[in-house]
Amino acid sequence: MARLRWLTAGESHGPCLVGILEGIPAGLPLRAGDIDRELARRKLGHGRGGRMRIEKDRAKVLSGVRHGRTTGAPIALLIENRDWENWRETMDPWEAPAGYRPVTVPRPGHADLAGAMKYGHPDLRDVIERASARETAMRVALGAVAKGLLSELGIGIASHVVRIKDVACQVDALGLPPEELNARADRSPVRCLDPKAEAEMIARIDEAAARGDSVGGTFEVVAAGVPPGLGSYVHWDRRLDGRIAQALMSIPGVKGVEIGLGFQVAERWGSEVQDELLWEGGIRRPTNRAGGLEGGVTNGEPILARAAMKPIPTLSRPLRSFDLKTHRPVPAHRERADVCAVPAAAVVGEAMLALVLADALLEAFPGDSLAQLREHLDKGRPLP
Ligand SMILES: Cc1cc2nc3c(=O)[nH]c(=O)nc-3n(C[C@H](O)[C@H](O)[C@H](O)COP(=O)(O)O)c2cc1C
Repeated sequence: MARLRWLTAGESHGPCLVGILEGIPAGLPLRAGDIDRELARRKLGHGRGGRMRIEKDRAKVLSGVRHGRTTGAPIALLIENRDWENWRETMDPWEAPAGYRPVTVPRPGHADLAGAMKYGHPDLRDVIERASARETAMRVALGAVAKGLLSELGIGIASHVVRIKDVACQVDALGLPPEELNARADRSPVRCLDPKAEAEMIARIDEAAARGDSVGGTFEVVAAGVPPGLGSYVHWDRRLDGRIAQALMSIPGVKGVEIGLGFQVAERWGSEVQDELLWEGGIRRPTNRAGGLEGGVTNGEPILARAAMKPIPTLSRPLRSFDLKTHRPVPAHRERADVCAVPAAAVVGEAMLALVLADALLEAFPGDSLAQLREHLDKGRPLP
């Protein structure tokens, strides 16, 4: 059963995003800048569009935190959308402004058409506003609180970009402590650890922008210091590998998720896929091909997951579409768009991994207060 519950609400050009996180134990120290720092990291990355220059995201804490500590009550957060000032009338909850023209041309690769058919919206604006990845800002804010909890217990989460289109990072992040991995990735305009690949990635993004096109890529998320015993093999929906995959796949634009070797397992011999078990005064695995999860349970090794993001669907040289009203062919509707958002999606990936891990941690080691949680965690999961 989920120990951590969270919900977000808010439209891309509405007044704000709101989020509620319930289940965080009491007594967790939080600093004022912890959430905003993560929000700033989500805006990083070469290839972001004009929106990122408008939004200076700050999370207002409405409840659940007092004098720098969580109280155990639901944590409610609010992030204002500065762009709303320009959209007040379009987004008015009560009436459409005079001369308002609904959006009737769906963008290929977006929720526009499928969402309109599902909810019966004649104005695609009703789909666009909520399906927009603007919502991921709140995921990052809530994830920052989950990250704070994990960090207090020695669990670090980091990410980096391993591919943009055909350019692959040749530097392995394995072994880098999460804080250092993030510090290095955040210094790069594409959050890549390999300076040679970084230059080529930037060139590829610039080339896409010049062509009126877009590019995608792959990012890796890592969690280190994870105790064994999170998740379970006893039922499909308790497997933590499945829960992590769902969380990463839910990020807009993500089309593939791998854990450990991922799709490479299909090409290798069995002996090249499993991790051997050694006893050297303690458990030692010479390899971590499983990415920290065996049978859907954490095994004490770092968790390694990768997600592939498709190229941004809104193109400045629009794709073909048709008008819902007239059925006439027209170029796709354009919104202000990023050319590449893989570096930002990686930061969202960290938040999603943090929320799933915090939930699984509280499930395995419950605690109403941080002190209780620590007590349970210290007992750990010893060898039987
Ligand atoms: C951080 C982030 C930023 C994004 N920015 C844009 C954007 O500016 N324009 C756009 O068309 N899609 C953007 N996307 C991708 C779309 O939201 C996504 O492709 C779309 O909602 C359809 O969902 P699907 O690709 O998962 O099917 C972004 C995604 C993320 C994670």
